[in-house]
Amino acid sequence: MSRLRALIGHSIRLTWSADRRAFVITTVLQLLGAAVIAAQVLIVKSVLDAILVVGDGGGVGPVVLPVVLLAGVTALVAVATAVQANQQRLLSELVLRSTWQQLLDVAGAVGLRAFESPGFYDRLQRVQTNALSRPYQLTQGLVGLAGGLAGCVGLSVAIISLEPALLPILLLAGVPLFFTSRRESRLEFDFAVAQTPRLRLRQYLGLVQTGRDEAKEVRAYGLTGALRARFDAVYAAYTDDLRAHLRRRTRLAVAGNLTSAAFLAATLLALVWLVGRGRVTLAEAGAAIVAIRLLATQVGTLFKGAQQIFESGLFLDDLDRFVAMRPEAEQAEAGAPAPPSFQTLRADGLSFTYPGSTAPALDDVSIRLNAGEIVALVGENGSGKTTLAKLLAALYEPDGGTISWDGIDVAAYSRPGLRRSVAVVFQDFVRYHLSARENIGLGDADRMDEIDAIAAAARRAGVADVIQDLPHGWDTALSKMFKGGRDLSLGQWQRVALARAFFRDAPFVILDEPSASLDPRAEHALFQSLRDLLGGRTVLFISHRFSTVRTADRIYVLERGRVTEHGSHDELMARDGHYAELFRLQAAAYLAPETSH
Ligand SMILES: Nc1ncnc2c1ncn2[C@@H]1O[C@H](COP(=O)(O)OP(=O)(O)OP(=O)(O)O)[C@@H](O)[C@H]1O
Ligand SMILES: [Mg+2]
Repeated sequence: MSRLRALIGHSIRLTWSADRRAFVITTVLQLLGAAVIAAQVLIVKSVLDAILVVGDGGGVGPVVLPVVLLAGVTALVAVATAVQANQQRLLSELVLRSTWQQLLDVAGAVGLRAFESPGFYDRLQRVQTNALSRPYQLTQGLVGLAGGLAGCVGLSVAIISLEPALLPILLLAGVPLFFTSRRESRLEFDFAVAQTPRLRLRQYLGLVQTGRDEAKEVRAYGLTGALRARFDAVYAAYTDDLRAHLRRRTRLAVAGNLTSAAFLAATLLALVWLVGRGRVTLAEAGAAIVAIRLLATQVGTLFKGAQQIFESGLFLDDLDRFVAMRPEAEQAEAGAPAPPSFQTLRADGLSFTYPGSTAPALDDVSIRLNAGEIVALVGENGSGKTTLAKLLAALYEPDGGTISWDGIDVAAYSRPGLRRSVAVVFQDFVRYHLSARENIGLGDADRMDEIDAIAAAARRAGVADVIQDLPHGWDTALSKMFKGGRDLSLGQWQRVALARAFFRDAPFVILDEPSASLDPRAEHALFQSLRDLLGGRTVLFISHRFSTVRTADRIYVLERGRVTEHGSHDELMARDGHYAELFRLQAAAYLAPETSH
C-alpha cells in the first residue's frame, strides 16, 4: 500500500509537471462525472417514487419530470465520457512528450563515460522502450483511480442521503471484489517484472531479423533459421508462462465473481428484509440496486487504475533514477570558458581505464602538439589510439595525469567549451539519415545556413561533385529510409564525415583513420594537401598506413596503452624499433610482388 501511495504521488507529479491545465481539466471532469453518477441514483429513486404513485392510481403527470431528468443525466454521462476520453488522450500525449524531453535532456547531457556503464545503458534502454507506452498507461491509471474514487465517494453520499443503513450493506458487496482485484494487480505486476528480460531479448531478436544494417550479414551467414529458432524459443517460453499466469488469473476471477454473487445475494436479502421492516421504501431499494451496479463498476475502475499505476511502477523508478543523473551532468557543463585555441597542447602521464575493465587502456601517456603541427599516432589494434583521441577531445576524464593547453590544466574549463575547439572524425563516424547539407552542416550546427561554407568544405573533402549529382542535390536525404533518398559508398561517406570536420572551424582536428575507406588516389590527395586543407590547424591523425604517417611532423607509437617511441619518420627508422618493424612489414608486403618479377 505504501508503494502504491508513493507511485500515485509520483504519477501526479509527473502529470502535473507535464501540463497543469490539462491535468486540472481532467480532474474537474472526473469530479463532475462522479457527481452526475451520484445524481443518477437519486433521480432513479424519484422516478420509482413517481411510478409507484402512478401504480397506486394517480395520474402520469408527476412521472414526466423525473423521467426527463433521468434521460438528461444519462445523456450528460455519455457526453462527459466522450469529452473525458479526448481529454485523457491529450493528457497522455503531453505526459509522453514531457517524458521524452526529460529523457533526451539527460541522455544529451551525461558524459560519454555513462554510455560505457551497463547500468546506465540498461536503464536508458528500458526507459526508452517503455517511454512509448508507459506514460499512456500511467495517465489512464491515474485518471481511472481518481474517477473510480470520486465515483465511489459520490455514490456513498447518494446512498447515505437515501438511507444511511444501506451504505455498510452495499459496501459489503464490494468486499470480495476488493480482495480479488488487489490480488490480480499483484499477480500482474509480478508477471510483468519477471518477464521483462525475456521481452527485451525477444524484441532484440526481432530487430536483428528485420534491421536493414543486419540484413546483409544475416543472409550472408545464413542466420535466418538460427535467429528465428532463437526467437521462437523465447516467444514460446513467454506464451507458456502467460498461459500459466492467465490460468491463475481466471481461477481468481471465477472465485471472486462467485463470492461476489453470494455477497450480492446477501445484500439483496438484507434489502428485502429492510423493506419488509418498513425501514426502506421500495423506491429506495430500487435505487440502491442501481447504486450497487454502479458501485461495482466504479470499484472496478478504481482497481484497474491502481493496477495500471503498479505496472508502470518499474518504469517510474527507472525514469527517476535516470533523471537523477542530471545534476552530475550539469556539473560537467560548469567551469571557466575555454580559450578558442592553444599554442601548445600537452598530455602528461595520462592513464585511463574503461569502466568495468581491469586493464588500463592508457598508461602514463605523454604527448605534445604545437599549434600548426601534424602529429601521427600509430600502433596495433587495441593499443589505445582511439582512447587517447577521446581523452584529448574532452569526451572522457583521465583517471590520472593532465591535459593542458598552454600550461593550464583543461580540467578547469567547461567541457562543451573545450569541445567547441576540437573537430573529430571518428573511426566509426555517424551517418546521419538527413540531407547532404545537414550531414556536413552539423559540423557546426550554429552555422547551418552558411551554404557556401558547407559547399567549400565538401569541395575540400572531394565529395562536392558526388552531392551535386544526387537527385535533389544538397537536399537529398542520405538514406534509403526517406523518399528520394540515396545511400553513399563507404568511401563517399568518409569524405562527408571529413567535410563535416572541415566545416567545423576548430583549431584542433583529430582524424581517427580518416582514410581507411578512401581509394589510394583520394588518400594520397588527402595527405598531400592536409596542410593546405586544414590551413595551419593542429592535426592529430591516427592511421595504419605508414605511407601517410611518414608525412607527419612527429609520430607517437603506442603499445598496449603506453607510448614506446616518438619522433619523426627518419628518427624512428634510424632507431630501428617497433615503428621501423611495422613500417618494413607493410612496405615489404607492397613491394614483394615487384621484387619477385
Ligand atoms: N568502450 C570500451 N569499453 C571497454 N574497453 C574498451 C572500450 N573501447 C576500447 N576498449 C579497450 O581499450 C583498449 C584500447 O582500445 P582503443 O579503441 O583505444 O584501441 P585502438 O588503438 O584505437 O585500436 P584500433 O586500431 O583497433 O582502432 C582495447 O584493449 C579495447 O579493448
Ligand atoms: Mg581505434
